Amino acid sequence: MSTPALTIIGSVNLDLVASAEKLPVAGETVTGATFAQHPGGKGANQALAARRLGAEVSMIARTGEGPNRDAALALLRQDGVDLSGVVACPDEQTGVALIAVDKAGENQIVVASGANATLSPEDVNIEGHPDAILCQLEVPTACVMAALRAGSGLFAVNLAPAGPVPIELLEAADLLIVNEGEAAFYGEGLHRGGGMVALTLGAEGAVLYRAGKEVARAAAFAVPVIDTTGAGDTFCAALVLALAEGREEGEALCFASAASALAVTKAGAQPSLPWREDVEAFLREQD
Ligand code: RIB
Repeated sequence: MSTPALTIIGSVNLDLVASAEKLPVAGETVTGATFAQHPGGKGANQALAARRLGAEVSMIARTGEGPNRDAALALLRQDGVDLSGVVACPDEQTGVALIAVDKAGENQIVVASGANATLSPEDVNIEGHPDAILCQLEVPTACVMAALRAGSGLFAVNLAPAGPVPIELLEAADLLIVNEGEAAFYGEGLHRGGGMVALTLGAEGAVLYRAGKEVARAAAFAVPVIDTTGAGDTFCAALVLALAEGREEGEALCFASAASALAVTKAGAQPSLPWREDVEAFLREQD
């Protein structure tokens, strides 16, 4: 099996994480948390996950300049993601995500998009005919549409966070990836185009549809939950990688579910992303 090449168009953030007993409700102050800082952003998390799972990965993104850019890109750089398409903008701040995590591993996230919001279709230069392109919605939709028009390989979109998108995107994507909340937001629009739709269901596992019909289902793996941040990103990267490798749909879905299960067993988004050997060993243990 040759190594797939993936291009990811998306966000780069610095995650500022407070881990507390409970999440606050509106107007409430929760004290006693511990603090950590990690690289994050849905785009960057998916790029790093794909890289650790065995792909050649190029990233297209925007950041500010200075220490936050360096910190946000540190693990992507360390693990060999091609960052030549990540533009440093002198007048913008690197994206920041304020994340609260409770003792059950659930989170609340507020993103200050900064430079991510200034990514432009002109930045979306897709070189080398990648086997797959993967986007999310933390950058302007016009950039996702530009990536769609590049027309190289499998075109996948993680519709997160949910928001209005052109119908053309829903119709033309080869693969749409959503959680339950996002699926409720888009409704039947998800199945308009006849492509694949992957739906993650938390403890209920994941389902893959093609042209509106279920073609594969994977049960969730029972693992200790430390922090769910980045698990959805891991699922997206693993599923796209496995499909780009030509794996059968059920096998690809199982691989993605296993990878995302491992991601919840550690704290932080990028520090928790598993390597391919980890996922393969975990799957062998389940047999
Ligand atoms: O999907 C998790 C990510 O969402 C975090 O890393 C945070 O940066 C936000 O973009």
